[in-house]
Amino acid sequence: MDRTVRTVEDVLALLDGLFASASEAGGRLATGDGRGFWDRFYTDRSRPVPFFAAKPDENLATYLDRGLVAAGRALDLGCGAARNAVYLAAHGFEVDAVDLSSVAVAWAEERAREAGVGVRFRCGDAFALPDAELTGPYDLVVDSGCFHHLPPHRRVSYLSLLDRVLAPGGHLALTAFAAGEGGMGSEHTDAELYRERDLGGGLAYTPESLRWIFSEFEEVELRRMRATPPESTLFGVPFLWTALFRRD
Ligand SMILES: C[S@@+](CC[C@H](N)C(=O)[O-])C[C@H]1O[C@@H](n2cnc3c(N)ncnc32)[C@H](O)[C@@H]1O
Repeated sequence: MDRTVRTVEDVLALLDGLFASASEAGGRLATGDGRGFWDRFYTDRSRPVPFFAAKPDENLATYLDRGLVAAGRALDLGCGAARNAVYLAAHGFEVDAVDLSSVAVAWAEERAREAGVGVRFRCGDAFALPDAELTGPYDLVVDSGCFHHLPPHRRVSYLSLLDRVLAPGGHLALTAFAAGEGGMGSEHTDAELYRERDLGGGLAYTPESLRWIFSEFEEVELRRMRATPPESTLFGVPFLWTALFRRD
């Protein structure tokens, strides 16, 4: 008989396990156990996945254009093929970027090389990496589409990571699936997700839920992402919230 829970981290790992079989079956989980899913996801680069295009998020570009965030140290959390990390590095940021998938990181490294920018990539679970790997403090943490793949209990790890690495006065630029009309993602309550043991391909959020989760932060802007046409140099799909939060 195993007794596996002694610390809060043990509880979080136990809860991760509830979603692990769904992860292997359908890739619903994006913590450590989701690695295989994400590796497979990035293997065929020719798939028509909108965020495979090497374009930064339209909201992120406007934060820079409007002077809402200034060049400094940045962390791209769940960077994928590094659309945003490469953009930030090209705009004078010193960028660290982390992703669970080694296949994504290999693609991201190629893209940074081709763009002639330096990005410090790390492969691993952002919430389990030793502190020395994500040194911070960062002036900007960018998360485009990672947060909404986390199971509810991992919000605790997420907020704790921000607490450790985000500088006072620093910003979190977040995009997450929008609940409601024209949105995307699972609208099950947190409790239902644990009953179903399935994250349904990502969680939908309301603006109120994001405000509540990030209530320790000042809201600078929270709006839907603006759709961009295929010829645009910016990435924009209408089913995401974009939020810029500032830490006091
Ligand atoms: C929807 S993709 C978005 C990728 C990238 N941000 C973009 O917009 O192109 C979500 C990414 O989060 C990564 N991810 C999920 N959970 C993670 C974790 N715990 N630590 C690091 N990366 C994670 C996945 O590997 C995947 O690349």
